[in-house]
Amino acid sequence: MSRKRILLLGSTGSIGTQTLDVISRHSDRFRVVGLAAGSNADAVSEQAARFDVRHVGLADTVQASRLQAENSLVEVFGGSDGLVEMVHAVAPDLVVGAISGFAGLPSILAALELGINVALANKEPLVAAGELIMTTAERTGAEVIPIDSELSAILQCLAGEKRSDISRVLLTASGGPFAKLPPEQLSQVTPQQALAHPNWKMGQKVTIDSATLANKGFEVFEVRWLFDVSFDRIEVVVHHQSVIHSLVEFSDTSVIAQLGWPDMRVPIQYALSYPDRLASDLKPLDLTKTSPLTFAAPDTDRFPCLQLAYEAGRAGGGYPVVLTGADEAAVRLFLQERIGFAEIAGCIEQALEAFDGQTVTGLDEIEEVNDWAVRFVTESADKS
Ligand SMILES: NC(=O)c1ccc[n+]([C@@H]2O[C@H](COP(=O)([O-])OP(=O)(O)OC[C@H]3O[C@@H](n4cnc5c(N)ncnc54)[C@H](OP(=O)(O)O)[C@@H]3O)[C@@H](O)[C@H]2O)c1
Repeated sequence: MSRKRILLLGSTGSIGTQTLDVISRHSDRFRVVGLAAGSNADAVSEQAARFDVRHVGLADTVQASRLQAENSLVEVFGGSDGLVEMVHAVAPDLVVGAISGFAGLPSILAALELGINVALANKEPLVAAGELIMTTAERTGAEVIPIDSELSAILQCLAGEKRSDISRVLLTASGGPFAKLPPEQLSQVTPQQALAHPNWKMGQKVTIDSATLANKGFEVFEVRWLFDVSFDRIEVVVHHQSVIHSLVEFSDTSVIAQLGWPDMRVPIQYALSYPDRLASDLKPLDLTKTSPLTFAAPDTDRFPCLQLAYEAGRAGGGYPVVLTGADEAAVRLFLQERIGFAEIAGCIEQALEAFDGQTVTGLDEIEEVNDWAVRFVTESADKS
């Protein structure tokens, strides 16, 4: 059997390195044919040598030129346009989208335009451009396969089921590190505290988004677009243990759930092998060893980002783009200790209120609105 040729975008990050781990465990099934990252030239170069890869991409053009000058064994594609060019040049069987933030959008779209399947971890593109991504995939026959554990769970719950039989999707949320913190202490949270997630080890942006519940709001959009479920049928349930990864309720009130230890390599492997399952030597779930499984409604008063996501989703048009752009800028400001943790939601809310409601269709307009939201939040912080 020929090996699936994989182009890994975001190879140096948490999802990227875990994807390489999965590929190493199944080297008879998968082969890496391209690697791309933001600016970490040394890590990408080391990965290219380890996996015998000839095509690499770096969004940072200075680092891309440096790497090309130092390493003649690889062809380096530089800049955001370079990553798109790389998708065309490599023409893989599968693109893994594991870049963090809005920056992942153009290369994902390029793959789908070419009819290439995308295993997607990167959630911001689906929030900002869900309709564009899904209509592009539909037009070219490409598939978007989720990597996110909750979305992978839903995909698995829906195997053999009719979408029209879904009555609710129950999206589980760990609640983040501050689920039990008194409200008055939320404003004192430091970036170091927010970066210590209790159950998952992830990149900085998604870890902060998990602490504010913005991340769960983004996953609501993922459900909306990947499974064509309306916002009012998607409910978030706080489940601190992260053992049940999500559930689907059907019209006869039956509920199907997917369970496992919190280990991203499981949904990554499923996305790479989909629709097949591969055997794994990862730790099997032992229900006698889990903490008691608990469930609660999310506290949207203390964590307003989740509610803001629903509002932006229902408003549609350019609002979801503003949601992700403003969040990305606000998280950056928080990590730079320029705003407090509790101000992240305020930045998003102000940007949504200030937005002129412009509709968006193509990539150019989406990028324009995203840039506006980033600028709005950053300039507001500069003024205060
Ligand atoms: N980590 C998880 O468990 C998890 C779970 C579900 C979904 N996700 C989603 O998956 C995505 C990646 O998360 P992560 O935790 O792996 O993030 P991460 O550890 O921060 O890694 C981000 C990756 O993106 C690259 N990158 C950053 N900016 C870029 C740009 N402008 N152009 C190209 N590449 C760029 C980084 O390269 P450098 O190293 O050079 O900066 C790195 O390879 C996010 O959208 C996140 O929400 C993550």
